[in-house]
Amino acid sequence: MFSADPLDVAAVEAYRQALLPLAAQLGVEQLPEPAPDDDSWQDKVELLVDDPVPVVSFTFGLPDRTTVERLHAVDSYLVGGVTSVDDALEAVRRGLDALVVQGPDAGGHQCTFRTSDPAPTTPLDTLLAAVRAAVPVPLIAAGGLSDTAEVRRVLEAGAVAAQLGTAFLLTPEAGTNPTHRAALTQPGFTETVLTRCFSGRLARGLRNAFVEAYDALAPACYPAVNQVAGPIRRAAAAAGDPQHTHLWAGTGWRLAAEEPAGEVVARLWPGTD
Ligand SMILES: Cc1cc2nc3c(=O)[nH]c(=O)nc-3n(C[C@H](O)[C@H](O)[C@H](O)COP(=O)(O)O)c2cc1C
Repeated sequence: MFSADPLDVAAVEAYRQALLPLAAQLGVEQLPEPAPDDDSWQDKVELLVDDPVPVVSFTFGLPDRTTVERLHAVDSYLVGGVTSVDDALEAVRRGLDALVVQGPDAGGHQCTFRTSDPAPTTPLDTLLAAVRAAVPVPLIAAGGLSDTAEVRRVLEAGAVAAQLGTAFLLTPEAGTNPTHRAALTQPGFTETVLTRCFSGRLARGLRNAFVEAYDALAPACYPAVNQVAGPIRRAAAAAGDPQHTHLWAGTGWRLAAEEPAGEVVARLWPGTD
């Protein structure tokens, strides 16, 4: 479940206008005009209450107290992503049962509560220790973990689990599209960057031409930027053009391996190094 922002029509429309020449260059006929979108938040809550699941996780913010109580009443275990001690304290006050503590090296979106929050910079180890000292709930450490020693380190530092995304991007089970897969192994991509240019929210991916051109222009507005940039990203990915689509990757992307997910887990499991 993710929380969306109110729509800043003028800012997103200005960004859409800036993207139109690239859209034309890539043969994309239209970019959608900004429109409100809350990702059907309330419908999802009702579905989860009517047809409960064991675990519900939240990102980009918190459910309200009533939603927490309704989901607890159907025995769902509630997990929320946090990037700071203050957000961790708020999540626990709100009633969440466990937290994903996400460091700044993570691939994909940072789970900051406010879209306009600056890029988090506190290293995962430091953040994990501070959150561990501040709240009593189970913690899941995430962000930049790419080998057994790092997984062991966060478990020894008080996390009950480690969450990895980037390490699985090249597995056959992953939904990573072929353009993204190829880019992850190309030597021409040399660094990752946190940028709002693809979705409006800070997300880490490989630096490419789209990032170079639009990072400074993108407003902090999610998911509206995601909507207007979406056709360009999809067209580029479909055409095998890695320069104009999002290439989510954490800082450990060079260690992602083309092997089944089960083998990745077995390789990373503490005790196997
Ligand atoms: C391609 C990709 C997609 C992701 N999608 C989601 C998502 O939909 N919801 C979410 O809470 N986290 C998502 N994440 C973040 C991961 O849950 C996790 O925080 C992150 O991958 C950990 O850092 P790592 O990539 O360095 O292992 C995604 C990460 C990646 C790389």
